[in-house]
Amino acid sequence: AEPTAGQLRTPIVAVLGHVDHGKTTLLDTIRGSAVTEGEAGAITQHIGSTAVPLDVIGDIAGSLVDPEDFDLPGLLFIDTPGHHSFSTLRSRGGALADIAIVVVDVTDGFQPQTIEALDILKRTQTPFVVAANKVDTLPGWNPDGTEPIQTAIDRQSDRVESDLNERLYEIIGELSDEGFSADMYWRVQNFQNNIGVVPLSAMTGEGIPDLLTVLMGLSQRYLKEEMSIDVGGRGAGTVLEVTEERGFGTTLDAIVYDGTVREDDRIVVGGVNEPIVTEVRALLKPKPLSEIRTEKQFDTVEAVAAADGIKIAAPDLDDAMAGAPIRVVRDRDLEAVIEEVQAELADLEVGTDEEGVTVKADTLGSLEAISGTLEEEEIPIMHAEVGDVAPRDIRMAATADDPKHQAVLAFGVDVLEDARRLAEQEDVDIFEDDVIYQLVEDYDEHVTAIEE
Ligand code: GTP
Ligand code: MG
Repeated sequence: AEPTAGQLRTPIVAVLGHVDHGKTTLLDTIRGSAVTEGEAGAITQHIGSTAVPLDVIGDIAGSLVDPEDFDLPGLLFIDTPGHHSFSTLRSRGGALADIAIVVVDVTDGFQPQTIEALDILKRTQTPFVVAANKVDTLPGWNPDGTEPIQTAIDRQSDRVESDLNERLYEIIGELSDEGFSADMYWRVQNFQNNIGVVPLSAMTGEGIPDLLTVLMGLSQRYLKEEMSIDVGGRGAGTVLEVTEERGFGTTLDAIVYDGTVREDDRIVVGGVNEPIVTEVRALLKPKPLSEIRTEKQFDTVEAVAAADGIKIAAPDLDDAMAGAPIRVVRDRDLEAVIEEVQAELADLEVGTDEEGVTVKADTLGSLEAISGTLEEEEIPIMHAEVGDVAPRDIRMAATADDPKHQAVLAFGVDVLEDARRLAEQEDVDIFEDDVIYQLVEDYDEHVTAIEE
């Protein structure tokens, strides 16, 4: 529906963390539906978003939150599957998320993707809290249900409580090693200067009321000004994923972070070769408290206001790219909007060298992230692009002078069969992985082997 004047935008909360540390389970429990069960394997395959209205947050948080104290409409959570780079979550000039939750398995502690997430949050200056998850796995833990963490801790033996404290202080210490001052959330006065650590169990629900309370408090206190936008204005968004949808053709799973997108709006979307100019045919919305990627039955809506997840059906979207900007044209000059989208894409473009490896990635954000890592490792890039590995990528890689550069690094994309055949003929090596550090490590080992 069209937003009313003075309406505040919903803050966007990104859920980050290492593989299997419990991001999806956390949202699942908050949502009260079984997304985890609906997933292929235990790994989330796509990025989705979940809107949780204020009254639902109030219900879950119980005595800790009084909805009367808040005027933000709720929170929009974005799940990031472990293998997906968080850097896809970008917006005009920065991070798409207003705040973030870094989920850390209390027993497993910090892992490579925990640190990767913290690096990005530091760079984009995004406020965040740490969810010290899986407290129920501590030996001897006596679980109950969704309740404030203090109530749960009071029920534990002294031994369990001191075990928990030890692990929490380890996490606080690791945060400090990464340059963040942190403490148990109940001791934090200013959540912008200090990172609050919230012990919880995504499985049993203990501590989830505390997490929601901290998130609402943090948003209300520090984000209210940023949330005071013209939600009825021209919409701006980011493509999370380009997906085929039966009956609709190629569609965009998108997050609208500014203004409103309406049915019949003319939009400009970042494409592989050039910006795509098209008209919205339908705006498809999952029902509240459900998730785009598991919802088969869509509601069509006339308009979507920031912030929200939406599936956009429109003609000519085949070349759209994940991570690319979406802009509503409406009463603006089309050329100016195209230029704006082009400028944003240029910002994202990866610098290439005369000689080097070929890189293919699933999104602009991941392409950027992987190029950053290669640059740190002083590995030159000759060609970098979003999309599956095709024969022409192999032909490109084969033109490298140095045999160690006759390689394609494929991140989160498929290798087409004829490309694989050609690679064998041309002696081009293909490296595939869904984790950046793993991909670069594999390539490094290969180089070492060649040089020996
Ligand atoms: P990726 O999407 O693959 O990065 O993982 P994720 O972070 O979304 O983890 P997910 O929620 O899929 O959880 C991984 C495993 O840990 C699943 O088997 C969950 O059931 C389990 N798990 C998550 N949270 C908890 C918790 O609080 N307690 C217990 N006991 N298990 C948990
Ligand atoms: Mg997950």
